[in-house]
Amino acid sequence: MSTVVITGTQWGDEGKGKIVDYLAQQAETVVRYQGGSNAGHTVAVKGEEYKLRLLPSGILYKGTHNVIANGVAVDPEVMLQEMDAMEKRGIDVSGIRLSDRAHVVMPYHRVMDGIGDEARGKEKIGTTKRGIGPCYMDRDDRIGIRVCDLLDKEEFAKKLKANLAKKNKEMQALYGHEPLKYEDIYEQYLGYAERIRPYVCDTITLLNEEIASDRRILFEGAQATMLDIDYGTYPYVTASHPVSGGVTVGAGVAPRKIDKVVGVVKAYCTRVGEGPFPTEQLNEIGDKIRDAGHEYGTVTGRPRRTGWLDACVVRYAGILSGIDYMAITRLDILDSFDEIRMCTGYKYKGEVLPGMPASLKVLAEVEPVYETFPGWKTDISGIRDYDALPENAKKYLERMAETTGIAVGIVSVGPNRDQTIVLAKDIFK
Ligand code: GDP
Ligand code: IMO
Ligand code: MG
Repeated sequence: MSTVVITGTQWGDEGKGKIVDYLAQQAETVVRYQGGSNAGHTVAVKGEEYKLRLLPSGILYKGTHNVIANGVAVDPEVMLQEMDAMEKRGIDVSGIRLSDRAHVVMPYHRVMDGIGDEARGKEKIGTTKRGIGPCYMDRDDRIGIRVCDLLDKEEFAKKLKANLAKKNKEMQALYGHEPLKYEDIYEQYLGYAERIRPYVCDTITLLNEEIASDRRILFEGAQATMLDIDYGTYPYVTASHPVSGGVTVGAGVAPRKIDKVVGVVKAYCTRVGEGPFPTEQLNEIGDKIRDAGHEYGTVTGRPRRTGWLDACVVRYAGILSGIDYMAITRLDILDSFDEIRMCTGYKYKGEVLPGMPASLKVLAEVEPVYETFPGWKTDISGIRDYDALPENAKKYLERMAETTGIAVGIVSVGPNRDQTIVLAKDIFK
């Protein structure tokens, strides 16, 4: 058995796609277990860039199984568009498997996500408007349409009719939105159904058989710990469980079947959308990080909010997900800084807090305790050996490991596959 979970430790966009793609060299199966097309994972290979939203980042390896498990909110339109785009670029998509239990994102989910979030006014979350929250809401309301329902014409017609009647009423009453037409959606989605049918299967049986036959499996988290519906900065979160525990319910894999957890940590912090961000730098340092790192969203193109690394957040992610190793990405973005800071504690009313506060009011008022490190002022993007890193870079990494209690397993110094330094040789058994 050899299963590894890759999870985001901060507010997303840590470079999970890059780390999954790198480790997928050794994996036979890559699995998305939560979220949906709100994710934007970028993989760079030989000067080519691939932006993935729903398809697992193992797609670039021929023969790999790429599983979209039951916990994913699947927009079939996005899935098919991505598959077509991949095929055009010569990528084999025959290894895709889609869970028959996954919930389907419908047009009314996208509409309600967009106008619903805007209608919150000042309280808006700043969602990606991909319909992910409303799709999970229907699942929890027990009216959701699953992939198995979509493939069954009668069942689909029945559920769509009932849901659309309700949604049209809600959209009209709450937002004055024009009703959506049943026939249009029915025809469109039946077309999607026929195209996705060959890829649909019982992924629970598939994955558990693969685990029993010792295949190497990677679980690819989307979003991140601080966006988790329960553990993140609620309500400024996504609607799923990016933490490693999300794998058990999102892919039907028991906790004891998980061998290792790798937490992806960006060497500084970013956030898209609203919500508290204790180490945010609303100043020239933040601008410098944004410029150096080209920090603009993959999905929405929004400028990302930027700030120093928050070790309190990484420590919290380590506890919640049982992280064995950190994969530290984008260290090269800090190459030109004279000084680098890291928050190692939160002070509130003069006391250092023992954990992550639940109250957003408290989180908004915490005073980050910073440690300052001299920069290395060296281009590290060509370095492939940990020992060859500048001493000041190593000091920064070593302090990160010490203060979070998590070992450094991987250091990434550029977007490409080869710009990766691996310290942990036992990520896969
Ligand atoms: P994800 O959502 O966690 O997969 O991250 P994104 O793909 O949204 O954002 C990470 C960005 O950083 C992508 O453009 C990656 O190609 C890029 N990237 C990943 N690792 C590194 C790194 O070590 N250095 C640099 N410069 N870029 C990286
Ligand atoms: P990856 O996988 C960064 C953010 C949105 C918003 C909040 C809720 O690329 O790291 P949603 O559409 O999920 O209901 O939006 O979560 N968000 C992300 N931020 N990276 C992501 O994914 C994100 N997915 C959602 O900006 O604040
Ligand atoms: Mg992203």
